[in-house]
Amino acid sequence: MEAIIIDGKKVADEFRARLAERVEKLAQRGVIPGLTAVLVGDDPASASYVRSKKKAAAEIGINSSVVELPAGTPQSELDSIIDGLNADDRVHGYIVQLPLPKQLNVEKTIQRILPVKDVDCFHPENVGLMTLGRPRFLPATPGGIIELLRAYNIQTSGAEVVILGRSDIVGRPLSIMLAQKAVMGNATVTVCHTRTRDWVRHTRNADILISAVGRANTVTAEMVKPGATVIDVGMNRIDDPSAKKGYRLVGDVDFAGVSQVAGAITPVPGGVGLMTVAMLLANTVTAAELRGQ
Ligand code: GUN
Repeated sequence: MEAIIIDGKKVADEFRARLAERVEKLAQRGVIPGLTAVLVGDDPASASYVRSKKKAAAEIGINSSVVELPAGTPQSELDSIIDGLNADDRVHGYIVQLPLPKQLNVEKTIQRILPVKDVDCFHPENVGLMTLGRPRFLPATPGGIIELLRAYNIQTSGAEVVILGRSDIVGRPLSIMLAQKAVMGNATVTVCHTRTRDWVRHTRNADILISAVGRANTVTAEMVKPGATVIDVGMNRIDDPSAKKGYRLVGDVDFAGVSQVAGAITPVPGGVGLMTVAMLLANTVTAAELRGQ
């Protein structure tokens, strides 16, 4: 049987419509949420993410701007940009787009962000609050995945969830959120990573299988339990001479094969990525609301 295609655009549109109402309420108090992205260097994928964040922000009435810095920017320069954003009242939230060029220290950079403006939810204070079940912000991609599962009534309570990848941005925070005692939690979570001995033994047991490793064709049909929900976080460029840009975007999952076995599946593009952007906007609105309290 063909899997249900989880429509990230539809869910993100509905989610943003609800956000627009919160933005409207802020506007009545004279507050316009401000979001800034700091982009260091000229990584084309990062530049494309930042453009889509800016466009989505404008659509719901969030003021957004981008600080573009050359690839060779030293740490001291980035630090003073961050200090400026921390002090700027028009900026309710900002992100430093990752990855950073190698002369820059990611940990030091994140640590310098004022936690109440850390709409990526990367700062240790925000990761700590989230981990304790008292979130100020939600990490964007994990939060977006949970909203997709909620929108499609996919039960997490009691479910066996297998997450491929243990990154700071997706795998680890998502594993914490789904195991928490919460409506969209209460799952039994297994995290597979580079040292896991036998991925398939785990993946075949998953009611919900989430891949966040960043490698095309990581998940194939025989790894999936029939009827399982498959969430694809991958965003991989593969060469395609027939495409206008010379490449196309694919996820981690072999969509053609897995969609014959799974019960529900997210496409790439059109799945998780759109929800990531929506959650970043939600955190920005939350930051503006918190400031007013
Ligand atoms: N690089 C890939 N995903 C993200 C994200 O969610 N936030 C930032 N700042 N950088 C990223």
